[in-house]
Amino acid sequence: MTAAAPLLQVRDLEVRFRAGGIDLPGLNVPGFGARYVNAVNRVSLSVAPGETIGIVGESGCGKSTLGRAILGLVETQGGEVRFAGDPVAPRDRTSIARLRARAAMIFQDPYASLNPKLDIGEAIAEVLRVHGKAAPDAIAARVAELLRLVGLSPELARRKPHQLSGGQCQRVGIARALAIEPSLIIADECVAALDVSIQAQILNLLMELQRRMSLSLVFISHDLGVVRHLCRRVAVMYLGRIVEIGLTEDVFAAPRHPYTRALLAAVPDIDPDRALAPAQLRGEPPSPLDLPAGCPFHPRCPHAQEICARGVVPELRRTGDIRVACHFDLPPMTQQGEDP
Ligand SMILES: Nc1ncnc2c1ncn2[C@@H]1O[C@H](COP(=O)(O)OP(=O)(O)O)[C@@H](O)[C@H]1O
Ligand SMILES: [Mg+2]
Repeated sequence: MTAAAPLLQVRDLEVRFRAGGIDLPGLNVPGFGARYVNAVNRVSLSVAPGETIGIVGESGCGKSTLGRAILGLVETQGGEVRFAGDPVAPRDRTSIARLRARAAMIFQDPYASLNPKLDIGEAIAEVLRVHGKAAPDAIAARVAELLRLVGLSPELARRKPHQLSGGQCQRVGIARALAIEPSLIIADECVAALDVSIQAQILNLLMELQRRMSLSLVFISHDLGVVRHLCRRVAVMYLGRIVEIGLTEDVFAAPRHPYTRALLAAVPDIDPDRALAPAQLRGEPPSPLDLPAGCPFHPRCPHAQEICARGVVPELRRTGDIRVACHFDLPPMTQQGEDP
């Protein structure tokens, strides 16, 4: 059986942000030149039609930047994004328009992503108009339909964002994303700002719609429990790189990368039946402005050897069914007390 052609292919994607410093030709005084944050560092991944993939990692590791770069919302310095087989050229309006007609983002802050002056109906109608998704005389009916689809009363169409709750606003955000009839949604911490009880409702809604419409979903979250529950595959990021990627089941059952292990060990409540080694993360992630040589994780890694500090950055390589960026083939961490 051949796997379906990927809907989204990301290859060696790089995003750097300028972070102060002076950029003068010929000036090469340490500490003075322009400084850059390597927010996304040669990231590659692909997403099949209808698939849900989670992107996890500590705050600042580049999850949002990756999501935004995929949709052409930030400039990239290297690599390639292909959508439905076509390369996405960030500076080419036609190519970006083609992508945005089929791919949408849902943001973390439901209020900030809505124009406070527009009523809800207008906010959705705007998307339908921009993408030519409904004839002028059909827009009102389609807005009502989209509101119902996300579990809101069409009567809310005349309200302004500040007249809605956070959960209602996030449903509007989902309705706006669905308005283009997308094949891909990138959801960036889309429930992090909501109360826990509302989070579950929104996630259930998103998953139900995802299945019903066979959407591909890139689900960015720092919440490992939610990702484990929702995503078929998971990619773990550290300082702009993917350090481990595979089926969620495999990664969570037997994480291989020392960073994934530490990340999972830090959330023991993910599965109360599973005894994990105590968290082994030392210190904070290094500044992304001043990345360590060699493996970016080595200063915090309990298994680090000389090669990790001096050698090249470890590339992702396959071990079993998952891919891991570590110089060593560490045995998968399994439940304590289990026979080796
Ligand atoms: N617009 C920007 N300008 C400069 N630096 C940025 C910008 N956006 C993000 N960064 C930096 O890029 C890195 C990755 O950030 P981000 O993608 O927001 O991480 P995450 O979503 O995983 O928390 C961080 O070091 C952050 O400070
Ligand atoms: Mg983020």
